[in-house]
Amino acid sequence: MNLDYILPNEWSIIEKGFDQNKVTASESIFSIGNGYMGQRANFEETYSGDTFQGSYIGGIYYPDKTRVGWWKNGYPEYFAKVLNAPNWIGIDVCIDGTKLDLNNSKVSEFVRELNMKEGVLTRSCLVELSNGHQIKLETSRFLSLEIQEIGAIKYAITPLNFDGEIEVTPYIDAGILNEDSNYDEFFWEVLQKYEGKNEAQILSKTLKTEFHVCTGMHMQFELNGFEIPLESKNEILDKSIKYTYKTFVKQNDTFCTYKYGCYVQSMNHNKEELIFESQKLLQKAAIIGFEDLLKKQKLAWSKIWETADIVIDGDIKAQQAIRFNIFQLNQTYSGEDSRLNIGPKGFTGEKYGGSTYWDTEAYCIPFYMSTKDKNVAKNLLLYRYHQLDKAKENAEKLGFTNGAALYPMVTMNGEECHNEWEITFEEIHRNGAMIYAIYNYVNYTNDYSYIPEFGLEVMIAIARFWQQRVNFSEDKQQYVMLGVTGPNEYENNVNNNWYTNYLAKWCLDYTLENINLVRKDYPDDYHRVIDITQLKQDELKAWQHVSEHMYFPYSEKHQVYLQQDGFLDKELITVDQLDASQRPINQKWSWDKILRSPYIKQADVLQGLYFFENHFSRKLIEKHFDFYEPLTVHESSLSPCVHSIIAASINRMDKAYEMYLRTARLDLDDYNSEVHEGLHITSMAGTWLAIVQGFGGMRNFNGQLSFNPQIPEKWQSYSFKINFRGCTIKITKSHKGCTFINESDTDTSIYLNGKEIVLSGNQLVENK
Ligand code: BGC
Repeated sequence: MNLDYILPNEWSIIEKGFDQNKVTASESIFSIGNGYMGQRANFEETYSGDTFQGSYIGGIYYPDKTRVGWWKNGYPEYFAKVLNAPNWIGIDVCIDGTKLDLNNSKVSEFVRELNMKEGVLTRSCLVELSNGHQIKLETSRFLSLEIQEIGAIKYAITPLNFDGEIEVTPYIDAGILNEDSNYDEFFWEVLQKYEGKNEAQILSKTLKTEFHVCTGMHMQFELNGFEIPLESKNEILDKSIKYTYKTFVKQNDTFCTYKYGCYVQSMNHNKEELIFESQKLLQKAAIIGFEDLLKKQKLAWSKIWETADIVIDGDIKAQQAIRFNIFQLNQTYSGEDSRLNIGPKGFTGEKYGGSTYWDTEAYCIPFYMSTKDKNVAKNLLLYRYHQLDKAKENAEKLGFTNGAALYPMVTMNGEECHNEWEITFEEIHRNGAMIYAIYNYVNYTNDYSYIPEFGLEVMIAIARFWQQRVNFSEDKQQYVMLGVTGPNEYENNVNNNWYTNYLAKWCLDYTLENINLVRKDYPDDYHRVIDITQLKQDELKAWQHVSEHMYFPYSEKHQVYLQQDGFLDKELITVDQLDASQRPINQKWSWDKILRSPYIKQADVLQGLYFFENHFSRKLIEKHFDFYEPLTVHESSLSPCVHSIIAASINRMDKAYEMYLRTARLDLDDYNSEVHEGLHITSMAGTWLAIVQGFGGMRNFNGQLSFNPQIPEKWQSYSFKINFRGCTIKITKSHKGCTFINESDTDTSIYLNGKEIVLSGNQLVENK
């Protein structure tokens, strides 16, 4: 679908004009969230047209019986389903007996705006109902960053051509279904309902997982800005509570409903006290009031933007896009809770059932690490640390022993819940990303203590996995890794995926290196870890042997590492020779045809060269880019950013920019015609990387921060900030040169195009 209807604007996503066909796409794009919960931009009032209702709470899921492959030993027992939570946004409206429903009314001057600077979603329009009554509708909604369990709605109606009766029915409803599967099954069991003055609660629990959630609402009313008392008629139904309020309103009066909603749940509170907690919170919200809550919301967002913002001059669509990506990442994960993570669709849809993929370690951590306090990235690492036992159980199920760990491809609580064998069993490169993230974190933050305290245990368990997963080939006299799927999921069950073998070798080396460092510098932790893991010296020797004798498929003819054994047997017809009607191949071709084709879904060998750029020469990287990029179809949203970063690093700015555009406005321009299902949250971190590491050329190998800034021709300038080891550094690049400002009191140094520069505290350094 062409989403040209999203107007270019620096700080807002704006839709003008109402089109029923765009409602589900807009519901995704205008989604709001606060790290704890999130919602699609569904209308508050009834909408009888095509809509995808969605409201989600971080960490809450349902273990749905997996319907594929469950008879295979080692297969995951369930598929984690992100649950659509009870609805607290609903407000039904009747005007002189006629229901307000934009689907069957005349709608004009429709404007929907997601204000990213302030974190608020607004909507206004003129509506003519079937009874001829015209009203002006103005709504605002936000999920509070300050009090994360609550959200607030302001819902204002102004009669334009009549005096008459307005009836509003705010409700909460736990009779909620999921959209993408189990169409008619209920996952919520209602336990208790509470009816108070202008306030109601429903306590419900999820089937099987038994998460208890109390959903609450609290209402206040105003006429022309003055609070008015209204009596309600209450309906307590099986799964929902509805309060109906009626009032007589004169032409041009504005009648406003304030609705505060909340979720409090058993991950954070005692089950028995949920209703009470909800009452406390809603009353607090009502006392603060909508406008003051909104002020706090603006302040909280301005703090986020202070470091996270990227300013692009000369390209308003690029500006809007990068802010949209940064905004959505912050709506999805706020970083205080190490039990939560970043789902590929965040809080904007149900697809990708489980929540956590390797996307977090490979793509998201650098974004949060550079734009937030280091504890945010640390919490993401701790999420995996706390799930180490489950990763060991997962490996054990597959036949691994001695405390080897295999982290899941998809998980909500550490258990594997991906239901395709070629991914569950074979896409094991994800295990390496866990260690890469630790390396990345320690290298960037200089917080080495993470390794002795937590990281080393994870490394040892993963090293054990790799050593058991390879086997020695008598024929090759080297270690090989059989039956894997690399990041390119358009190849399954291949032998010796270069990326996986390289990562495995690196994991073994890095683990050995850190065992030595911890032994030397942190003897207490060393002994504790040896005790817990029962690590034996023989194991270290075995790891060393594997690392030194790992096999890597290579083509002398092309002088490139091969994605896997046999890659050259394919008919290497480049993507540009494919007819446009054949793309995207995952929608046009059978899986069988895809598997035999040479087409690469996403960066694979290039993903490895990106991670380990400092291990390879520029010439080698160029060769590989020229070989693999023409075969890559980028049908994963995680792909173009890696190609963009590599292209920039080898001075192919046109290509870098082309790839950047594919990631930046992927959802705003709906490249893959799927935005109605939700947004691509994890690849949004890739967009940030494409600017900061791609155009900005930021690198941090061996703890030394360096930049090699370039600028796309179309832009006049761009600037971004990063937190680095206690300093906030602002980098601005224009066609004339670049400037660095160290916004903190401490001096630091960076490398600019290979030359060291000292950045004294609060100083600007200009480089022309
Ligand atoms: C990609 C994976 C990714 C997943 C979730 C898939 O399409 O191939 O690499 O982890 O999406 O984003």
